[in-house]
Amino acid sequence: MSETHREILRAEHVTKRFGPVTAIEDITVSFYTHQITGIVGDNGAGKSTFVKIISGVEQPTSGQLFFEGRAVKFRSARDARRTGIEAVHQDLGLVESMSVVRNFFLGMEPCRGLLMDMRRMREEAERRLYEIGLRNLKSVDQDVARLSGGERQAISIGRAIAFERKVLILDEPTSALSVKETQKVFDYMRNARQQGLAVLAIMHSMRQILDIADRIVIFWHGRLIADLPNDGMDENVLAEYLHNGLPESATIAT
Ligand SMILES: Nc1ncnc2c1ncn2[C@@H]1O[C@H](COP(=O)(O)OP(=O)(O)OP(=O)(O)O)[C@@H](O)[C@H]1O
Ligand SMILES: [Mg+2]
Repeated sequence: MSETHREILRAEHVTKRFGPVTAIEDITVSFYTHQITGIVGDNGAGKSTFVKIISGVEQPTSGQLFFEGRAVKFRSARDARRTGIEAVHQDLGLVESMSVVRNFFLGMEPCRGLLMDMRRMREEAERRLYEIGLRNLKSVDQDVARLSGGERQAISIGRAIAFERKVLILDEPTSALSVKETQKVFDYMRNARQQGLAVLAIMHSMRQILDIADRIVIFWHGRLIADLPNDGMDENVLAEYLHNGLPESATIAT
């Protein structure tokens, strides 16, 4: 790993129980700047629970999070966002009935006196979206309801960059997208990586994970069973891990 990769977020021995159900158990893992980590695992493996904990939506039953080396506790998603962690959940990210520019600044609006500074917001949103590669948006005043799935992802990713988040978490960012739109979203993700963000993406398509991730972590029955660099891994080998856990011969990395 090159020295441009700095540890930004670490989970140590994180366990989450919902009553009798153990959703994740003893997860220890770090995430680094300038790196895209793909998170994979079967349905119910604990992926969403894990990203909810590191983005402040849920609190761990036990275990500890560290941000830039300091122990942290997030009481809410807002808490995590303030620290520098932005999570985009597939359907909850944007407000349909609001414009692109309002969504871009939601909760972070710059003001002039008591009023929102709309001119500055428009200029900034247009510039940021153009910079990450969203080039053919007609107007930032149009409602989000009329955007494609890829364009919506662009707004969320552009927002995370604009507000200088350090960790960006995407839960299934491409599941509803065409091949072409998926490639655009991958470009936005690469752009976020280039800006130095640690990008975490949960994805179900093995091919897509292998295409975009620098590194792959595998969840299996609530545990993190493998943490692998993506250096020419075979799609079938990855699928095998997902369904059957690690082969006897493999070592478990944390
Ligand atoms: N709020 C909750 N209450 C009770 N059980 C829960 C809750 N949230 C998650 N679980 C359980 O924890 C386990 C892990 O769920 P989680 O949603 O994290 O899986 P996942 O890997 O994201 O799956 P998928 O790929 O289907 O999205 C499942 O058995 C699930 O039923
Ligand atoms: Mg999930």
